Amino acid sequence: MEESNLCKHIAIIMDGNGRWAKKRAMPRSFGHKKGAENVVKITRAMKESGVKFLTLYAFSTENWQRSKDEVDALMDLLREYLDKEFQEIMENNVKIVFIGEREMLSEDIQKKIDFLEKESAKNTDLTLCIALSYGSRQEIVNTVKSIARNVKNGDLSIDDISQEMISNRLYTRNIPDPDILIRTSGEQRISNYLLWQIAYTELFFTNTLWPDFDKEELLSIIEQFNNRERRYGKN
Ligand code: FPP
Repeated sequence: MEESNLCKHIAIIMDGNGRWAKKRAMPRSFGHKKGAENVVKITRAMKESGVKFLTLYAFSTENWQRSKDEVDALMDLLREYLDKEFQEIMENNVKIVFIGEREMLSEDIQKKIDFLEKESAKNTDLTLCIALSYGSRQEIVNTVKSIARNVKNGDLSIDDISQEMISNRLYTRNIPDPDILIRTSGEQRISNYLLWQIAYTELFFTNTLWPDFDKEELLSIIEQFNNRERRYGKN
């Protein structure tokens, strides 16, 4: 278990784009557009903070149930950003990783994310992990199935199954567990996000809607984290 008090990984549930737009009598897609712009701003702020990993919940498996118009608008926005931000990602030495059920995404988006991951794989300043069509329970189900297959074909004995083995088979296998989880917009739920990985994570809930969440608030949360004492169940 990692016991260093330095924050290495921040995970964010970016909530409240719809309400941000509604307050301005604008369509929800406008809120998502502002939300996507804020992803770029917060990623820049992360580089300055020195924290090495950022995981963003961009689209959950449950989000497929939103209206076709809204899902299409989100996917179009995603296409736009995957193309538009490529250069900045490379110039800033950012490594991109996608977690989630990527076969649910359209083929052109799958190609774009494969390309981005491959091109940015050797970058080292910040790892930006984007959860797309992600659901934590499904991730755990996939892991259980892969272990069961190995046991069934005799490659693994039941007694060798460990916490470490499970961690190493999740989508997040190369990423440390989050130190901080932030949810914006006042909701206090985890919504099927990184359930295994947040066992010891410090939780922060803010009323700020995602498009308004800024660098000052991010740095203030990191500061509060530095002042919290983490005991991992010990005295
Ligand atoms: C929550 O707002 C946000 C999302 C559904 C996903 C976050 C998306 C972005 C930040 C845009 C960039 C992502 C992609 C995939 C291009 P909400 O719609 O749930 O807001 P509400 O709770 O106020 O309705």
